[in-house]
Order: sequence, then structure tokens, then C-alpha cells
Amino acid sequence: MDTIPPRDTTTGQTWNTEAYAANGRFVATLASSVVALLAPQPGEHILDLGCGDGALTEQLAATGAVLLGVDASSTMISAARQRNLNVEQHDATALPFHQQFDAVFSNAALHWITNQQAVLTGVHRALRSGGRFVAEMGGQGNIAAIRTALQAVLAPYHVDAEATAASFFPSPATYRHLLESVGFTVQSIDLIPRPTPLPNGMDSWLNTFRNGVLDHLNPAARATALAATIALLKPVLCDADGNWTADYVRLRFHATRS
Ligand SMILES: C[S@@+](CC[C@H](N)C(=O)[O-])C[C@H]1O[C@@H](n2cnc3c(N)ncnc32)[C@H](O)[C@@H]1O
Repeated sequence: MDTIPPRDTTTGQTWNTEAYAANGRFVATLASSVVALLAPQPGEHILDLGCGDGALTEQLAATGAVLLGVDASSTMISAARQRNLNVEQHDATALPFHQQFDAVFSNAALHWITNQQAVLTGVHRALRSGGRFVAEMGGQGNIAAIRTALQAVLAPYHVDAEATAASFFPSPATYRHLLESVGFTVQSIDLIPRPTPLPNGMDSWLNTFRNGVLDHLNPAARATALAATIALLKPVLCDADGNWTADYVRLRFHATRS
């Protein structure tokens, strides 16, 4: 019998690990720049925050660093354990660590969290003095066309797509302020447009990354809304050969704890 992944209580999102592996693997494979910014060293203790199924955690551990992955999703944690990784299930807003990591790393997880103050306080507390926080997340303007299309299509169904998704895509100035407010010194923070090919198309992307919004509709309405969203997006995100590209914008930063 199939098990239904638990739904995140804030965003309504469920993480189906098979769908993520099939339609979201680009999230980890396109992370080479933030991994380079982290520059993990053998023997360093590194926390991978929102580690997902551990594809990137495994890559970081291969450098000789000592990795602990944490994620709120039980399905993602189970998938990460299958890679023989050291992982624990925690919500990023309630991290139980005290001055024990040389670095905290995060890729594509922070924008799913609304209580940034709680996350950043916990990350700061988890780092030893001089430790670094290196991360990439969705930034201002991320997937703007997709979000606008969903907002327009779902309004007649009385679903506020933006409020329901509850994503946090800050500008560099906003996030710098948040980091500094909990005691970090910001070494660099940049907004990086990253048009992202979707080999499996927009339908698969929406079902994988926006199920927390679309599942507010009954199956018939969901199918109609999905088709209408894809039709709206096709002229701007799909080329003449049928290749889809999502309008990703990343926020990448390096901050240190003094
Ligand atoms: C798009 S995946 C990224 C996974 C991985 N970092 C990667 O690069 O493939 C986002 C992850 O953030 C996790 N996440 C979302 N909200 C979270 C929270 N409040 N606490 C911990 N993890 C969270 C999700 O469960 C999911 O595994």
C-alpha cells in the first residue's frame, strides 16, 4: 500500500521523494556554486539544513567533511538514511544545537520557511565562534511568472496562491538585515537569475513543487486549473521545440559568526 507523505503545516506542501528525484534533481545538481562558496574541508563539522533526500549532503560528505543533515520531512529523512547519511528530523525553526558546527549549509530550503528569525537564531547558536553560514535560496523575483499565473488562475476558486504557498523570496537588502539582526556578519550576498531547464515540463514541476497550493482544489478543478496555468505560461517559458525553462532567481550568501 502506498504511504501518503505528511503535509507541511505552514505551506501545505508534501515531499514525495520519487517525484522529487524525477522532477527536482536539478535542485541539487545546480548547486555547484554554493558548494564552492562553502568550500568544505576534510574533518570540518557541517550541518546541512533542509537536506532533503541527501543528494547534496552525500556530495559534501565525500569531501571528507563530517556531515549532519536535518530536515522536517519524514519522507525526505528516510530517503537520506538510505544513503547511509547521518541525519535527524528537526524543524529548522527549532534547532537543538549549541556551538558545535564549523559551518551551516543550506540549499533551496530557507524560502519554504516563514519564521526566519527562529531559523537564523538557531543557526547562529549552532555555529562555533568564527563559524560560517553559507546558503542559497529563492530570492526576490523567483519564479515570478509561475507565481503570477497561479495567482490569476486560482483566484476564481477563492485560493490565494501566494498566501497559500507562503514562500519567502527576499531581496539581498532584506536578508542582509535579517542576518545582521541575529548577530551575523555578511561577507557576501547576491541575487542571481538562473533560468532553469525543466526536462519533464511545467506540469511535473507544478505537481512536485506547488502541490500545497493545487491540492486545495477538488480533482476536476485541479486538472482544469493546471491546464489553464500551463497555457498562460507556455508563451513565456516554453520554446518552439516544447522545452520549458523556469524563471528561477537565487539568493546566495556567506555570513560568519564572530
Ligand atoms: C527543495 S528541497 C531541497 C533539498 C536539498 N537541500 C537539495 O538541495 O536537494 C527543500 C527541503 O526543505 C525542507 N524544509 C522545508 N521547510 C522546512 C523546515 N521548516 N525545517 C526543516 N526542513 C524544511 C523540505 O522538507 C525539503 O526537504
